[in-house]
Amino acid sequence: MPELVFTKTISESLRQYCALSKITNAIVLCDTNTQRCCLPLIAELNLPVIECEAGENSKSFEEVIRIIDKLIDLKADRQTVLINLGGGMVTDLGGFVASIYKRGIPFINIPTSLLGMVDAGIGGKTGIDYLNYKNIVGVFKQANAIFISTEFLKTLPEEDYKSAWSEIIKTAAVANESLFELIESDGNLDEIIKQCALTKSELVERDFMDQNVRQLLNFGHTFGHAYESYFLEIDKPIKHGFAVAYGMRIELKIALFINNISANEFERINKLLNEKLGVVEDGNDLFNLYLKYIASDKKNVDSNVIFSLPKSIGKGQYQYKVSIEQLKKWKIEGII
Ligand SMILES: NC(=O)c1ccc[n+]([C@@H]2O[C@H](COP(=O)([O-])OP(=O)(O)OC[C@H]3O[C@@H](n4cnc5c(N)ncnc54)[C@H](O)[C@@H]3O)[C@@H](O)[C@H]2O)c1
Repeated sequence: MPELVFTKTISESLRQYCALSKITNAIVLCDTNTQRCCLPLIAELNLPVIECEAGENSKSFEEVIRIIDKLIDLKADRQTVLINLGGGMVTDLGGFVASIYKRGIPFINIPTSLLGMVDAGIGGKTGIDYLNYKNIVGVFKQANAIFISTEFLKTLPEEDYKSAWSEIIKTAAVANESLFELIESDGNLDEIIKQCALTKSELVERDFMDQNVRQLLNFGHTFGHAYESYFLEIDKPIKHGFAVAYGMRIELKIALFINNISANEFERINKLLNEKLGVVEDGNDLFNLYLKYIASDKKNVDSNVIFSLPKSIGKGQYQYKVSIEQLKKWKIEGII
């Protein structure tokens, strides 16, 4: 498992880690925004930098090739460490490049977005998009270390900050009751991020290849992905976190109906989603359209849709199967 370092002094922590691990050669990968806003916090290490355009479009084969060309120019060898300084886009892309360059070089993630700190930067899922498919090409490969410093959040755009809360609430709802209570009581942000990162990393340790218990983290993602894909296709992309919040609301109704969760706990999760993300557009009239995307979801087994649902706050159930016909029926009956 990678070393997970929580720090307020990123430059110093990174310098110490490099000294202890005898790292003599490192290269930073960042995007245009993290170069401007985040690189200054580690500038004193004076490392060579590869920059890519900010935005999901950089998770592409073209960008992988361009970064590999730069690594060759910089004479990166198998001892060189790639330091991914950015949000989920940079850690996904950089992790993938590091996994294939010279059959794999070590990499460090320094997530700079809230989503990166609690989710994308942790867990060893690396990858890029291809055609219209998100994350369709990639490998499982753990970072050597992950440095989490909330200092970076000072420059993160508001929408990126807000939307990431769905992943925090999701992780708490299915896997950590005390984290959920900490969020409800408006607890310290650094502590919330730390608890969430540790909760994800424990699930990853138990099930690195995503075969069982790690799937709990898919709560909200079945309908969430459908919602996200639909808006991507009509060229009005929405933030992943807002899509997940939408998915969590529908999937919570399923959990309530099948007696997985009490009405009180259902309300508590919905209330937190409202507080942290605002009331999310329900998109009810588009339900049948979403079913089209759900039907083609790679998580489906034997034409059943697979859900991860909370059972009670802090506990969840994965691999809950529902047919598309059942979903349509529930919609007509007003259950979801
Ligand atoms: N590997 C995984 O397990 C996993 C999990 C969830 C999401 N993801 C992936 O993560 C990506 C989304 O991550 P994201 O929301 O972090 O997106 P992102 O990396 O695109 O970052 C969002 C925006 O914030 C900017 N930014 C990041 N940190 C900043 C900072 N400190 N100051 C100023 N600007 C900053 C970025 O440049 C970008 O414009 C998607 O590609 C998604 O597929 C991966």
